[in-house]
Amino acid sequence: MDDPLALDDSLRGVLAEYEARAAREDDLWETMTPEEAGRRRDEMLLPVGRAAGAFLNLLIKEAGATRILEVGSSYGYSTHWLADAARATQGRVTSLELQAPKTEYALARLARAGLSGFVEFRVGDALASLRSLPGPFDFVLIDLWKDLYVPVFELLYPKLAPGAVVVADNMTYPESAQVHAHAYRERVRQAPQMTSVLLAVGNGLEVSRYRSG
Ligand SMILES: C[S@@+](CC[C@H](N)C(=O)[O-])C[C@H]1O[C@@H](n2cnc3c(N)ncnc32)[C@H](O)[C@@H]1O
Repeated sequence: MDDPLALDDSLRGVLAEYEARAAREDDLWETMTPEEAGRRRDEMLLPVGRAAGAFLNLLIKEAGATRILEVGSSYGYSTHWLADAARATQGRVTSLELQAPKTEYALARLARAGLSGFVEFRVGDALASLRSLPGPFDFVLIDLWKDLYVPVFELLYPKLAPGAVVVADNMTYPESAQVHAHAYRERVRQAPQMTSVLLAVGNGLEVSRYRSG
């Protein structure tokens, strides 16, 4: 069957490697106690998954979004989907991540996929990075530790371009994220000019649009 996403071969190969690693980590995750999983979470990709990645890619391309922000890059799985979309829209991804080794891993793979020219990583606390980024942003993926979703939204909201789309992951899975996911949805839905919907894609995505004027 033809690839409906029309991904090029080098990107398809890199994504397949990430997905194989994620499958191994899912198996390992099943065997861990919650304490061990918490202690070892920085070893894991914790990716949005293929369905969500493809959906984000499609959203950006359809919207023609060029100023793309990712909050929580991890090892770069979602970054590849955003960067491929940025290549199509002639845009650019700014991606925020606390851990430099994760960013280095991502950069090596983005280079193999021919996408490193479309991404700029900022290593450090995303809240500090967000304060210094002027915006505006057309598209934002929020996928860092879940207690930071609301503070991230507070900093982002004034920097959204008219028509901007904000997507937040982990709205329905894992269970441990649900208190924070609920708080995030409540906050976004109260914000003036935001319309928002919860979609059963991947781990549950809240997709919110900032109307102009
Ligand atoms: C769920 S993972 C992101 C997964 C990634 N979006 C993907 O799909 O491949 C969350 C990431 O957020 C990062 N993170 C957590 N707190 C952060 C902070 N304050 N600033 C920047 N990054 C942070 C973690 O280091 C972790 O790599």
